[in-house]
Amino acid sequence: MADERAYSPGLEGVIAAETQISFLDTENEEIVIRGYNLLELIRRVGYVDVVGLLLDGHLPEQARRTELEREMVTATVPETIYEILAKLPATMHAMDRLRTAVSALAGFDPEANSPDPELDRARAPRLIGQVAQIVANLVRSTHGEPPRPFDPQYGFAANFLRAIVAREVTDAEVRAFEQSLIAYSEHELPNSTFAARVVASTLADVYGALTAAVASLKGPLHGGANEAVMYMLLEARDAEGMEALIRQKLARKERIMGFGHRVYMRRMDPRAQLLKETLRELVTAQGQGEELLAMCQRGEDVMRAEKGLYPNLDYYAAPVYYLLGIPIELYTPIFFAARTSGLLAHIIEQHRDNRLYRPRVLYTGPRGLHV
Ligand code: COA
Repeated sequence: MADERAYSPGLEGVIAAETQISFLDTENEEIVIRGYNLLELIRRVGYVDVVGLLLDGHLPEQARRTELEREMVTATVPETIYEILAKLPATMHAMDRLRTAVSALAGFDPEANSPDPELDRARAPRLIGQVAQIVANLVRSTHGEPPRPFDPQYGFAANFLRAIVAREVTDAEVRAFEQSLIAYSEHELPNSTFAARVVASTLADVYGALTAAVASLKGPLHGGANEAVMYMLLEARDAEGMEALIRQKLARKERIMGFGHRVYMRRMDPRAQLLKETLRELVTAQGQGEELLAMCQRGEDVMRAEKGLYPNLDYYAAPVYYLLGIPIELYTPIFFAARTSGLLAHIIEQHRDNRLYRPRVLYTGPRGLHV
């Protein structure tokens, strides 16, 4: 019989994996990524460096970095994937379309069924590039428009943003976008990473594990929060409206998206603090968005005073994406594209040293019934 004392609803506080990838050290307010502080990585290196760090265990040398970026930028998405996307109902949620596309990618990998960790690592840069291109073309493909391919003369982050917004982008815009990609790249064992590891632990392949992660990330309690935050900001219109809206929602006992976090619950998510700086810099560079900043600040103040809750990364990623002109339905898919590197690192780690996940239950149903 399972021990009642071992039960933790929502697995709160349960250590469910041994990992060398990342750790949320809440006492010291540090997000550790393979020994580095995530905030330092966001400020000092590029997304491709973080991909190398996650996949190889150390920051890449110049040659490896170049090779990784080349693989990510030149990865091709099979034409059939876009044809499948074009056939799906336009009303289908972007994350559902992304989930379908990620799953369908398996059909174009002759070694799709292998859970070999070295093969996982070898195909990881290609997969990251494919997912980013699918995300960038998600809206376009739904309307049957041709995809915008990546251009090898630009780096990964610039390509990703250019393909999304379909225009030339400034260095300040690319930097802001790239900082969000790094912020989203890896974060220990959230629901989607756990889902991916659970699936991988059956020795199912990367495609199955990633598909499970997309499904998990869609939920508004997880990745879906970033788009929900933007809809709230648009509904609020200005700082006064933001305060009124949050107070109304709280009075109705609704959750305010972008606030709270299982691990950080009563303190600020360090990534939110950094993305707030990114937002400020973007507002200065673009000479617009002051009101958005003021609204976010007002929301933060009200939530701290009323609930003792602090913003998470999604709260500040949303206005950054809005100022970049990114369609709101792509906010959560972008989160997934950025997280694909972290997910792959976890899937590889799981496949390298595997034990099947199979927990127990605390049974509270009836006993002794007879037909
Ligand atoms: N708005 C209002 N109240 C919130 C809240 C929010 N965003 N987040 C937590 N709370 C409250 C809960 O109502 C609960 O209060 P109670 O004890 O009076 O019932 C308490 O804080 C604990 O919440 P709980 O749901 O048990 O915590 P959790 O660890 O299971 O949930 C989240 C964590 C992230 C799911 C939760 O904070 C949330 O729903 N946030 C909004 C969605 C979001 O931004 N998700 C992105 C996370 S990165």
